[in-house]
Amino acid sequence: MCGIIGIVGREDVADRLLDGLKRLEYRGYDSAGIATLHSGIIDRRRAEGKLVNLGKELSSDPLPGSIGIAHTRWATHGAPTTSNAHPHATDEVALVHNGIIENFKPLREELQGRGRVFTSETDTEVVAHLVSEAIEAGVLPEEAVKAVLPRLHGAFALAILFRQHPDLLIGARLGSPLVLGYGDDGETYLGSDALALAPLTQKIAYLEEGDWVVITREGAKIFDKDNVPVERPVTLSGVSGAMIDKGNHRHFMLKEIYEQPVVVAQTLKSYLQRMEERVTLPIPDFDLGSIRRVTIVACGTSFYAGMVAKYWFEQFARVAVDLDVASEFRYRTPVMEEGGLALFISQSGETADTLAALRHAKNEGQKIAVVVNVPTSTMAREADLLLPTHAGPEIGVASTKAFTCQLAVLAALAANLARAKGRLSAAEEKDIVRHLAEAPAALNAALAYDEMIEGMAHHVAAARDVLYLGRGTDYPLALEGALKLKEISYIHAEGYAAGEMKHGPIALIDDAVPVIVIAPSGPLFDKTVSNMQEVQARGGKVVLISDYDGVQAAGDGCLATITMPKVHPLIAPLVYAVPVQLLAYHVAVAKGTDVDQPRNLAKSVTVE
Ligand code: F6R
Repeated sequence: MCGIIGIVGREDVADRLLDGLKRLEYRGYDSAGIATLHSGIIDRRRAEGKLVNLGKELSSDPLPGSIGIAHTRWATHGAPTTSNAHPHATDEVALVHNGIIENFKPLREELQGRGRVFTSETDTEVVAHLVSEAIEAGVLPEEAVKAVLPRLHGAFALAILFRQHPDLLIGARLGSPLVLGYGDDGETYLGSDALALAPLTQKIAYLEEGDWVVITREGAKIFDKDNVPVERPVTLSGVSGAMIDKGNHRHFMLKEIYEQPVVVAQTLKSYLQRMEERVTLPIPDFDLGSIRRVTIVACGTSFYAGMVAKYWFEQFARVAVDLDVASEFRYRTPVMEEGGLALFISQSGETADTLAALRHAKNEGQKIAVVVNVPTSTMAREADLLLPTHAGPEIGVASTKAFTCQLAVLAALAANLARAKGRLSAAEEKDIVRHLAEAPAALNAALAYDEMIEGMAHHVAAARDVLYLGRGTDYPLALEGALKLKEISYIHAEGYAAGEMKHGPIALIDDAVPVIVIAPSGPLFDKTVSNMQEVQARGGKVVLISDYDGVQAAGDGCLATITMPKVHPLIAPLVYAVPVQLLAYHVAVAKGTDVDQPRNLAKSVTVE
């Protein structure tokens, strides 16, 4: 999603702004721009497409100035053209914006009615005109911003420059994150996340909902939503420049797939007491025993992690679970019992749909649990029960290591819920600890099949459509496999519950449609194999992902087989995530797509 960086500096800032934008590339974008103040004017460079285009603009026409703002835009209102790229500017102000101004149409009409001329199709430009109008009428910048902010409905993070105030940058946040960074040499920064500011500073203050900040060369003054001056704690972000390095890997996605044994181990370390053979939570006295119903809400890959959790919560704890994609949840007037547990799963902790669902559930009297990878995120701050994953920054747009870490946390939560409900004996808990502790080694063993998967990826790369089938917890994995494939290789893919195939999708089967069957040996294996044989009977080409026993029993006649280590069913969803991730990755590489920044996608989706 869009990214912001602003610098109130001592020297020219354009190069550092461009560098900051490069660090924000992972969020997904389709145009970019920078504005600075120099020689008494606002000056901008903007370009469609990748940052290399903006870099060329800056090389041929450099941008001096020691104060500036920069933006990567992920188009919502208006195509990804140069004229729609941020910063948007008048003669008096320039600004960058993340989020959506929902009431931009009436504001635009109102401004046009007063003769203001618009040069873009964006929702953002109304903000530039509203602030500029006030400035042109002689209002001081702080007062102008204070008056305009309440007029904006929707979600925003803003950074605004003023032509007549060459040492002033004003930022504001509502519904879209914005962080303030303090440099050692008196410089001050704004960024949409701490990662963007990592090479500049690690001293970060997170603005809260409704905060706005006035930055000058003397420092920063923060105001809350009621315009009362406030202090926000300065923390050390802990993200260094090195952490977003690809290392020896060709893509961030591959690096992150390979990190899984380590980050899952790191995550499990906070939930498993190996010596005591107990599964615990960061808030050990959180009352899970009284929970009668759990509502799980998330989007995309995080939703599929939630789907696996539904099987576990129901199986281990015998607690009823409702499961929803966040964008549907609020709008179906869900029934929630007072005191129920609402569980939100998110890598970023900023996904607009999930956050809105969280707030809705809170209003309905639910206890809020959040499984999240960014501990400073909005969702983390609004949780009653914060359950962090320790995946580290996930840069590839397609989520991989965050998913397996979410599964590790959700398995631990399922065990805690089961124990609190009196449904887990000490011996069963001991088994769960043992199986979960085996996950990192099993993930490592799964990664050993990388080359083999690369070798068979061409079968899938040639296809127009691909089906993924699985039963039980392998059904969400089938959905996840299909999502991974479509988002990075642009091949149409669908995931189905294996038993559901004969109720419709079987009509698609012919020898041009590879069918990926996820079927570890176990109680559901024979049933899945029957469905697989229905595919083969119709000429369908099957890729079977199973363990040695499964491949021995059913591998004959398959187009290819991928043999996973034999693992306990509890950790199978973590382990079988690896081959579906690697398959999508190698197919995308074979097709030559932009693996880390697939078209049209954003890393953190902060609009509804
Ligand atoms: C898929 C993917 C997305 C995200 C979804 C939710 O690879 O990354 O489907 O899972 O946008 O994002 P978070 O988890 O940040 O709420």
